[in-house]
Amino acid sequence: MKAPFQRKIYFIILHKFFLYKKIFVGNIFINFSRLNQSNLIMPNNENVRLGIDFGGSGIKGALIDTDTGELVTERHRIPTPSPSTPDSVSETIRQIIEHFGYSGKIGVAFPSAVQAGVIQTAANIDKSWIGKDASAILEEKTGCETIIINDADAAGLAEMRFGHGKDIQGVGMIVTVGSGLGTALFTNGVLLPNTELGHVHYKDKIAENWASDATRKKKDLSWKKWAKRFGKYLHYLEQLFYPELIIIGGGASKKFQKYEKYLHKVRTRVLPAYLQNHAGIIGAAVEAKELEKVG
Ligand code: BGC
Repeated sequence: MKAPFQRKIYFIILHKFFLYKKIFVGNIFINFSRLNQSNLIMPNNENVRLGIDFGGSGIKGALIDTDTGELVTERHRIPTPSPSTPDSVSETIRQIIEHFGYSGKIGVAFPSAVQAGVIQTAANIDKSWIGKDASAILEEKTGCETIIINDADAAGLAEMRFGHGKDIQGVGMIVTVGSGLGTALFTNGVLLPNTELGHVHYKDKIAENWASDATRKKKDLSWKKWAKRFGKYLHYLEQLFYPELIIIGGGASKKFQKYEKYLHKVRTRVLPAYLQNHAGIIGAAVEAKELEKVG
C-alpha cells in the first residue's frame, strides 16, 4: 500500500496532466483542456476539423468529426459584428479559433456566392467583401489554412451526407431560411455550387426580400401568412427543378411544425434539416477535410 501522501502526489500529477493535455495530430493541434470536457466525445482526431458558419446575426463554430458529422464540442457563437467588414469578421473568426485552441485547416461558410475563395455577392453582409479573397484574408489573420464555401452549399453537403439527403436518388434541394434565402442543388449527391435561387424574381420582388425569415420578423407576419409566401416560392422552384426532396435549413428548420401545414401547395416532400442549423458548420468542416485530399 502507498502512503496517503504518495497517493496525493500521484493524484495531483494526473490531474495536471489531464488539465493541460494537448493532442497533436498531423497539422491539427487541439488543446482539449480549453474545451468543455462534459460535452467532449473523443473523436478520431485525424478527422476533426473546425467548421465556422458566418450568418447575418451570429458567427458560430464547432469542432466536427467529419467522418460521422457529429459535433465534438459545443457550438461557440459570437454575434456578427456590425458592420460585418473583412476586418471585424476575421477578428471574430480568430476569436472562435482561439476559443477552441485550434490550429489546422478550417472551413468557413459564407452567405455569398464564392469562387475559389473570392466573395462574389454580399446581400446580407458588408458590401466591402465583394471581390475580396476571403480565404487569403482569414489565413493571414488566423494562421489557419482556410476553405470558403457558400453557406447553403455547406448545409446541403452535410444533409446529403449525414441527414435526410443520404438516400436521395436524383435531384435534392436544400433551402436555408434566415437573413436571406439560400439554396443548394444536388444530383445523385453531387453539388452544383452557388445556385443563388433566393435571388430569383417572384411577383416582381427578389424572392428573399419577400419570403426570408428576416422579412417574416421585420413585417411581423404570422407563421401562416409567411408560410403562404414561402410555399409559393417552393412551388415555383419545384416547377423549375423537379426535386425528389426539399430540405429546409437555417434557423427556420427548428420551427418547422409551426408552418408545415401551410405548405400544401408544394407537391415535393419537404423536411426540416435533420442537422437543424448545425448543418452549415458541419458542411464547412467536411469541405475543409475533403479538399485536403486534392491538395
Ligand atoms: C446569399 C446566398 C446565401 C443566402 C443565405 C443570400 O442572400 O446571396 O449566397 O446562401 O443568402 O445566407
